[in-house]
Amino acid sequence: MRIALGISGGIAAYKAVEVLRLLQDRGLKVQVVMTRAAQEFVRPLTFAALSGEKVITEMFAREGGEPNLESAIEHIAVAERIDALLVAPATADILAKFANGIADDFLSTLFLATTAPVIVAPAMNVNMWNNPATQANLATLRSRGVRVVEPGSGYLACGMVGPGRLAENEAIVAAVLEVLGATQDFLGQTVLITAGPTREAIDPVRYISNRSSGKMGYALAEAALRRGARVLLVSGPTALKPPDGAELFSIESAAEMHQAVMAHAGEASIVIKAAAVADYRPKKISVRKIKRHDFLREGVPGYAEIELEPTPDIAAELGARKQDQIIVGFAAETENVLENARKKLVGKGLDAIVANDVSQPGIGMDSDRNAVTIITASEVVDVPEASKAEVAQRILDAIHRLRTQRTSPATRS
Ligand code: PMT
Repeated sequence: MRIALGISGGIAAYKAVEVLRLLQDRGLKVQVVMTRAAQEFVRPLTFAALSGEKVITEMFAREGGEPNLESAIEHIAVAERIDALLVAPATADILAKFANGIADDFLSTLFLATTAPVIVAPAMNVNMWNNPATQANLATLRSRGVRVVEPGSGYLACGMVGPGRLAENEAIVAAVLEVLGATQDFLGQTVLITAGPTREAIDPVRYISNRSSGKMGYALAEAALRRGARVLLVSGPTALKPPDGAELFSIESAAEMHQAVMAHAGEASIVIKAAAVADYRPKKISVRKIKRHDFLREGVPGYAEIELEPTPDIAAELGARKQDQIIVGFAAETENVLENARKKLVGKGLDAIVANDVSQPGIGMDSDRNAVTIITASEVVDVPEASKAEVAQRILDAIHRLRTQRTSPATRS
């Protein structure tokens, strides 16, 4: 998800640095917008370096002293791209502009142009806060659906005591996440997710692999981050960019995945095995590229043989050694989907299995969509076809229910 962080000109502008970092930690992409006055307190470069994106400081970027109209249109496109606009700190001035529909700089124009939800975290001198004009503006904004994160009370930079101090960073971020519908029910959990295919080398140029794109595993990683988890992502080769905030461990073979998972599983309270791991690998890997004629067995033309051996079953090993962990497997099946998935649930000692019918066109492997059945000891949940992002949320819901069952006193006897 993408939000715009508007910074207006108050002494609390420096606190926006920490707000930005916290938002990024929750997996949000942040476009920073600064008013002219804000730049008197903190330089845009600070936010550009932290956000990795150009900070918008004016309506018309200038080229050779001339305003560039194209960039203004591009800037306005921000209004359509964002899922929320947060203004922290919000001065009395910017609140007045918002309440009265004045659009004389980029931030106030963005406010008018966006249909995304808006959150403001005011910070100002106590008298300015108490002034009826400010309170009337806030009342107007609240009545129009703007979420106000109330300022704290205490010593203010102006030397006065009273309300006007920017709310705590965590409270501001919590308000944003609430507005975005990103509940934090995985806060404090470390989730290890495997994603993508493995490649089992035959020689330096050839390998055995499968059609997994990694999309399902990456969608789970993104969703878990948004719900507050620390995410360890053990990924086979994919073309995907890992979600911001995920700790990535790139692997190629099943043996490397085994090693990475075993090295980090101890840190995780939840392991989700969405990867499509090769069950077998070539027994010998040739150090040189095998020539066409080398493949021939005893000189028989058209006959080639690669001897295979089983790979370690990572999910089964985790299932056998788990204590309080929740281990979730996937079952990619083309027939008897539920029956086969149930066998894997029990056989691998898992807490849940996500059954995928990978014979259906348009869903499952290498697709943006999926339809699954989540099976645990206490429930069977059908998730009809949806985006992998949506399916990931439903899988996390089921895992959350499992955790709640385990920790609730009624089920802990
Ligand atoms: O990556 P995408 O294109 O988005 O596609 C997603 C997916 C279809 C690959 C994914 O949703 C999925 O179903 N992954 C599991 C595929 C699979 O290997 O299933 P399986 O039935 O062969 O294995 C059962 C479980 O054991 C899986 O959790 C698998 O990760 C695990 N396993 C398998 C073999 C092995 N050696 N070690 C394992 O841990």
